[in-house]
Amino acid sequence: MRSIALLNQKGGVGKTTTTANLGACLAMLGKKVLVIDMDPQANLSVHLGVDIHKLKYSVYNILTGDCKPDDVILNTKIQGLDIIPANIDLSGAEIELVGVVGRETVLKEYLGDILDRYDYVLIDCPPSLGLLTLNVLTLVREIFIPLQTEFFALQGVSKLLDTHEVVRKRLNKNLEITGIVFCMYTSRTRLCKEVIEKVKEHFAKDQVFDTVIRKNVKLSESPSHGKPIISYAPGSHGSEDYMSLAKEVVQQENSKKN
Ligand SMILES: Nc1ncnc2c1ncn2[C@@H]1O[C@H](COP(=O)(O)OP(=O)(O)OP(=O)(O)O)[C@@H](O)[C@H]1O
Ligand SMILES: [Mg+2]
Repeated sequence: MRSIALLNQKGGVGKTTTTANLGACLAMLGKKVLVIDMDPQANLSVHLGVDIHKLKYSVYNILTGDCKPDDVILNTKIQGLDIIPANIDLSGAEIELVGVVGRETVLKEYLGDILDRYDYVLIDCPPSLGLLTLNVLTLVREIFIPLQTEFFALQGVSKLLDTHEVVRKRLNKNLEITGIVFCMYTSRTRLCKEVIEKVKEHFAKDQVFDTVIRKNVKLSESPSHGKPIISYAPGSHGSEDYMSLAKEVVQQENSKKN
């Protein structure tokens, strides 16, 4: 089982789009995948077709210990892809958890062994480094960082790396950054290429995915249809790019074994 947080405290960089579409593509490759929505905006849940207004339970109820993970896990329309959804209730969790002993490890504690049923667990983080994100970073082994290929993309990355170091020291010594993924790439601009070069100078070669996600209008349309890109627009660039990313993610395991 690989557990991966999609993390960047900068908003609108492609965390949710990557969680939904990478998850769906991995499932298409025959893997068992669980995605977890840890953002009170609940964009991931909506993207994968969950009616968030009709939920009996959400990830919030797992954090408060009100129910078992099995009560919350839903199947999606993609075979092999399950989701633990969120709704607006989650916005209160950050404050409610403050007074709880072991507040950074609540998610890990309550999810327990259910994660072992899956090949991949992908967790969509909110755009902040607060308590919800700390709960994710305590649980997972890996971090993927979606980055935009624009001038401000690197702003805030050093803060993100500091957080990684602190969590590694205090809470989760196994936590590793294993994938930088560029989202919303437009090959026409020189700036895009320059940003990619700059990032490659900062990280090890095997930490940066070769696959680059191109800007593709179908990717921005698909959430409103409640479908991942492989169902909504199978022949699109977006579909092609996320499938290529999924194959590269699977490939990471083979290169580790060698
Ligand atoms: N490759 C792409 N091409 C076109 N639009 C994209 C692409 N990737 C993401 N988008 C769109 O950009 C917006 C932001 O993406 P997304 O919601 O995935 O970012 P996020 O990092 O999860 O944002 P937040 O920090 O608010 O959670 C969305 O409207 C999404 O549909
Ligand atoms: Mg998001």
